[in-house]
Amino acid sequence: MFEQLEMAPPDPILGLTEAFKNDPRPHKINLGVGVYKDAAGRTPVLESVKAAEKRLLQEESTKSYLPISGAPEFGAKVRELLFGADHEIVKNNRAATAHTPGGTGALRVAGDFIKRMFPAKALWMSTPTWENHANVFRAAGVETKACPYYDAQRKCLDFDAMLNGLESAPEGDAVLLHACCHNPSGVDPNPAQWEAIAALVQRRALMPVVDFAYQGFGDGLEEDARGLRTLCATGAEMLICSSFSKNFGLYNERCGALTVVGATRDAADRAFSHIKACIRANYSNPPSHGGAIVSTVLGDPDLRAQWEGEVAAMRDRINGMRRLFVATLQARGVRTDFSFITRQKGMFSFSGLNRDQVAALRDEYAIYIVGSGRINVAGMTEENMDTLCAAIAAVLGKTA
Ligand code: LMR
Repeated sequence: MFEQLEMAPPDPILGLTEAFKNDPRPHKINLGVGVYKDAAGRTPVLESVKAAEKRLLQEESTKSYLPISGAPEFGAKVRELLFGADHEIVKNNRAATAHTPGGTGALRVAGDFIKRMFPAKALWMSTPTWENHANVFRAAGVETKACPYYDAQRKCLDFDAMLNGLESAPEGDAVLLHACCHNPSGVDPNPAQWEAIAALVQRRALMPVVDFAYQGFGDGLEEDARGLRTLCATGAEMLICSSFSKNFGLYNERCGALTVVGATRDAADRAFSHIKACIRANYSNPPSHGGAIVSTVLGDPDLRAQWEGEVAAMRDRINGMRRLFVATLQARGVRTDFSFITRQKGMFSFSGLNRDQVAALRDEYAIYIVGSGRINVAGMTEENMDTLCAAIAAVLGKTA
């Protein structure tokens, strides 16, 4: 049976990591998958995480199952991070949280929930969006539709086109919004634009599905939640998919969360009962370790302060690399203006390099970036910068 099957194509992001590992060239550089590297090119375990793990190892007394939605204290800490401890949503219990295997797990459960309870709803996604979004929602059986977002000419948000696109969504449809650090473009709405998006969502009764994978990597933990909180201020019902892969460095622990916000506590409880039913039919209940780390760090003032410092250090290093990247390209004689890269937020830079240039970087220089031209800035170091920029300069020189 299986010999007749065609091979599935490699994943556009994780498939690159496999190809990179198999590449024998010693000078190879992987700027594909969104994984943070420090100045020495390592992906370290955060100190705050290590300290929490030590504590957990000593105190853990059982490996019994967690509830379907994970540990209640984890959910409470996630909501504090999303909304702020004193937020009306928290006080009125209008939100409930499930601990999921990674942010991708949260997106998939959101997709299952939409398909099961609102089968007529389509999901509107920005163009471009994370390579895996359409894949996840289509696998859940949710129809996806494209909405303009990025102006590739001017390297900025095409806000009017975005609003017009959303305006054409039938009332009640779902809309996928990146809370901050838009993946892959690095271009986010400003506060006034978030107000306009929130007003449109309210007027057209759209259901936001907010992907929040980079809290703390844009301007700060609180600052990055402003767009989400603007949406919340309208009283909108929504689904929020958090990831702790990046801001806690918990990539392989697969730790994320799905939070549902209801118009009332009763509405949230009803929606959450179906979310739990979706989870039970999928992975049953979540793996404990990552969630226990997050709750331990966020629940201890010293560890939390240490973690906030570590998130700030990652953010600062990435921003430093953005500036050095632009300066090094200039120093290498590249005439194209890449200064827009210093205005992009988060881990990624949408470089504007085309598919042929991306292929040339891989084939001729062993530099791996995503086919869309997305570069993981968090993978740049002072050491690999010159090799990288020399290769880009050569490729641009050839194809310009
Ligand atoms: C990325 O966009 O590179 C990350 O979110 C990792 C992934 O799973 O694709």
